Amino acid sequence: MAEAAAALRAGGVVAIPTETVYGLAADASNADAVANIYRIKGRPDFNPLIVHVPDHAAAERLAQFDDRASALAVRFWPGPLTLVLPLQPAAPVAAAVTAGLPTIALRCPAHPVMQAVLKASGLFLAAPSANRSGGISPTRARHVADSLGAATPLVLDAGPCAAGLESTIVAVRDHGWQLLRPGPVTAAEIAQLLGEPPLPVSEARIEAPGQLASHYAPSRPVRLNATQAAPDEWHIGFGTTGGDDNLSARGDLAEAAARLFDALHRGDASGRAAIAVAPIPDDGIGAAINDRLRRAAA
Ligand code: TXA
Ligand code: MG
Repeated sequence: MAEAAAALRAGGVVAIPTETVYGLAADASNADAVANIYRIKGRPDFNPLIVHVPDHAAAERLAQFDDRASALAVRFWPGPLTLVLPLQPAAPVAAAVTAGLPTIALRCPAHPVMQAVLKASGLFLAAPSANRSGGISPTRARHVADSLGAATPLVLDAGPCAAGLESTIVAVRDHGWQLLRPGPVTAAEIAQLLGEPPLPVSEARIEAPGQLASHYAPSRPVRLNATQAAPDEWHIGFGTTGGDDNLSARGDLAEAAARLFDALHRGDASGRAAIAVAPIPDDGIGAAINDRLRRAAA
């Protein structure tokens, strides 16, 4: 972790575990370092990055928090919630981080390794998921190396990620809030805290490319709601719907979320022609699982 902090301070890029997925981190104030994230991911440069902060107080240097944003931070940070808020005019972040938007995406992660690196480096860390653009997010250190290949930087290996799905993204707007990406913190939890349901998200104005139909795609075709699989399909099961692999034999959705991307990676590596996935209930974090599965299948 000390080596990672030193590398980051020197403008390097490091893959760091969080409770959601592994992130590809760099100093958010260093334009060259941020450009290297984009280069390693092969990501189109209009896609803004999430900035990771050690705590709520630090976050206020980067974004303007109103009462609703503060309430969300107090309730869900540190944790798997990203807030899209108005950018502070003097925020010390490179232009490429926000891709020219008047807002910034902030997250205070709960993972002790990410927290330790944030504190040791004293930096705000811009970090997208540590996979090649368009690929499956990494929930293990090995996934990072498999996805980035020769471009793989220093990776801190802390084992599998507990949540296993990327953070929930909420945009706090002047007259309400929007769910830009479903995730481990559910829309119902946000709606309860803010006292109102989300505003609709316009398909015409996509701000978060995580909203693009095909975003988390394995290299093989994916078929959903498959209670049975053909011989050339790798079957990812759930509950009593068995398969070559099972997301959670006891039908636990949190366990299924934690295992989803690893299961897709294994299906991709299985040598079968396609991947078939058992039906997953849409309750709670099941909504985020089905969101990622629809994108994987699109
Ligand atoms: O769990 C996570 O959020 C992980 C870990 C590493 O923290 N990070 C992650 O980052 O999933 P990434 O880059 O793969 O996804 C970030 C999403 C993108 O879809 C991006 O477009 C959106 O956040 N985003 C970033 N800034 C935004 C902004 N100002 N307004 C709207 N969307 C934004
Ligand atoms: Mg990503």
